Amino acid sequence: MKNLYSIRMRASVREQHISGAERIVPEDRLGETVSALVARASSKGCPPDQIVITVDSLKDIVPQQRRALDVVMLSVPDVRAGRESASRILQRLGVSVRAIEIAMAQLDRGASPSGNNMRGAMVLDASTGERLERDRERGVRASRFDWSDEGERKISRLLADAGLTHFRTREALALATKVAHAPGMVAELCWSDDPDYTAGYAASLAMGYVRFPVLKQKGNGRGGRVFFVDPNVFEMEAFLAYLQTRPVLITEAGHCRQVHDPEMFCAQVNGRRPEKIFT
Ligand code: COA
Ligand code: AMP
Repeated sequence: MKNLYSIRMRASVREQHISGAERIVPEDRLGETVSALVARASSKGCPPDQIVITVDSLKDIVPQQRRALDVVMLSVPDVRAGRESASRILQRLGVSVRAIEIAMAQLDRGASPSGNNMRGAMVLDASTGERLERDRERGVRASRFDWSDEGERKISRLLADAGLTHFRTREALALATKVAHAPGMVAELCWSDDPDYTAGYAASLAMGYVRFPVLKQKGNGRGGRVFFVDPNVFEMEAFLAYLQTRPVLITEAGHCRQVHDPEMFCAQVNGRRPEKIFT
């Protein structure tokens, strides 16, 4: 793993962010990766006013290698059932009802002070629900992560077998895997701000990545991410340093399974390692 580079793309129209993605690749794949990211920026339906590509050498920093969180696809019929299951799962992981209610209400309303979606994630005290991020318009963004070639091949096959072919799932799983290893992290909750994309997830090291087909109504453009942290061990500087700058490569896929009984799944979630949850 020599001469690795972080390549990041962001694109905007009228100064509004419309697309972002990133890779970690060796020097000999810089050109093709930049081209692919430019193509990605241009595939959004509206031509971007600006595409910014940043290429940084990782120098001598060796990426942490991680196994992807196990994926659980939970069958829920509607938003209400999805959110109830997500809430029960988060509670089993140690997030308080109050923190969950605050998180969901903020995501519904637009979590930034201006009532818009944030540019990154909220950080919430998992016990009190207090918001800890310094800038509530921006929040915190995880960066410097990617799948290795082998990891990507394996996860793409597994997700495709499960009917999840959209690149968004693969990228969200990589992000959630990096985030789950952050110091002080308890669990993450996410639903997209894309009005056409109703799926969302709750994720943690202990439970894996639990995907819900619906966590919001179609047509709703409000969404975002919440990082619930343990106030007893959370330290903002270490948290930010890890999430924003520490390179992470996901080299192994986890398991992937459909669960039809949310009740039973919730009852099994208890903060143990995922492989134990299913035995
Ligand atoms: N929403 C809105 N604005 C964004 C944004 C987002 N998601 N990401 C970047 N921007 C804009 C902001 O104006 C930002 O300034 P800020 O730091 O004050 O918010 C500016 O671009 C620079 O952002 P920065 O993160 O420094 O840019 P970057 O070029 O280093 O990285 C991304 C950009 C989008 C690649 C990176 O932030 C990111 O989100 N990586 C993860 C991508 C991914 O795989 N997501 C999975 C989603 S399923
Ligand atoms: P998306 O998954 O792209 O639909 O993004 C949903 C929400 O997640 C955005 O509105 C942001 O609030 C937040 N977000 C976007 N990128 C990141 C990131 N890299 N890290 C943490 N949160 C993010």
